[in-house]
Amino acid sequence: MSNPIPFFDLTGEIGPLADELEQAASRVLRSGAFILGPEVTAFESEAAELLNVGHAIGVNSGTDALVIALRAFGIGPGDEVITSPFTFIASAEAIDLVGATSVFADVNPDTYCLDAASVEAAITSKTQAIIPVHLFGHAADMDALNQVAERHGLMVLEDAAQVIGGTYNGRSCGSMGHLAAFSFYPTKNLGACGDGGMITTNDDELADRVRMLRGHGSKGREQHVMVGYNSRLDSLQAAFLRVKLPHLKSFNDGRRAVAARYDAAFASVDGIETPFTAEGIHHVYHQYTVRIPNGRRDAVRAALAEDGIGSMVYYVNPLHTLPVYKAGGGSFPISERLATEVLSLPVYPHLPEADQQRVIAGIQKALA
Ligand SMILES: Cc1ncc(COP(=O)(O)O)c(C=O)c1O
Repeated sequence: MSNPIPFFDLTGEIGPLADELEQAASRVLRSGAFILGPEVTAFESEAAELLNVGHAIGVNSGTDALVIALRAFGIGPGDEVITSPFTFIASAEAIDLVGATSVFADVNPDTYCLDAASVEAAITSKTQAIIPVHLFGHAADMDALNQVAERHGLMVLEDAAQVIGGTYNGRSCGSMGHLAAFSFYPTKNLGACGDGGMITTNDDELADRVRMLRGHGSKGREQHVMVGYNSRLDSLQAAFLRVKLPHLKSFNDGRRAVAARYDAAFASVDGIETPFTAEGIHHVYHQYTVRIPNGRRDAVRAALAEDGIGSMVYYVNPLHTLPVYKAGGGSFPISERLATEVLSLPVYPHLPEADQQRVIAGIQKALA
């Protein structure tokens, strides 16, 4: 068997930047400033500029970003928040962590993102907010979702963990809701060297609340006006992120080039559906996720594994089917069908061309 092709490999991304990352680490070590501080402030303003938003606020993780954003909206016990069941658990978990109830709505079968009509049907008198998830690097239909939110007086929190650098009709993901949550988990399109996250907004008042919430609900020294969190981005991670941020576009372009090569090759293969891109979307392929219908997905995955090719199923258990959410009931047929058909293939920016060809050949062989 030839060398294995891992599903994801960060070494190609880190290697060329290793000297700069080491210098950044050394700069922070010698500065003696480890929490927030000038590195975080500088990263926040660089990220805000890149995303064209008024405020970018660094926090501990993407999960904390979602929790703090919901708290900034004032959401808590007795409230309902609608999100997708076809996502990573944090999108819903954050709702429960603030004491509210997660309510699911189904996704669009093409984009895999929250469907506006399904959201509208799930709204009750308790609904306070919607969390659209920009899944796999493709933006949710924000115009339609914002219209539903406006009609019903709801807040919108974009879960932008998988989409940094992606756009929707020319607007950056993370600039279209009242608040947005980003993750810098190392495998994300912009990854830290540890945990990290960020909240963006154009609303000055919400930004103030978010800043207070991330630092123990404090307005200033010992001025605690609300119960908050210890959720600050640390200076070391901010310094690493500042090294990587200028390369985000080329990382995303690298992912898009791999996706384009796969798209072209799979166009002539029966039994596989390539990822859809809606009009006006700049897709950043956090995942390259194909669909393999007719019950063949798991056999294809096993055949790839035999050839040493890594692949992954995101998400095999839609959230409403998990033990933690099962009691809420509900059936979301599109999410349930996707869970049986989706397969994510290696798509990292520095995936060698020869490995891309082996992935293509592996799929061709598995579906022959
Ligand atoms: C869609 C989505 N939301 C939220 C998160 C949570 O981010 P973190 O791992 O930084 O807490 C992730 C990823 O981990 C994610 O993929």
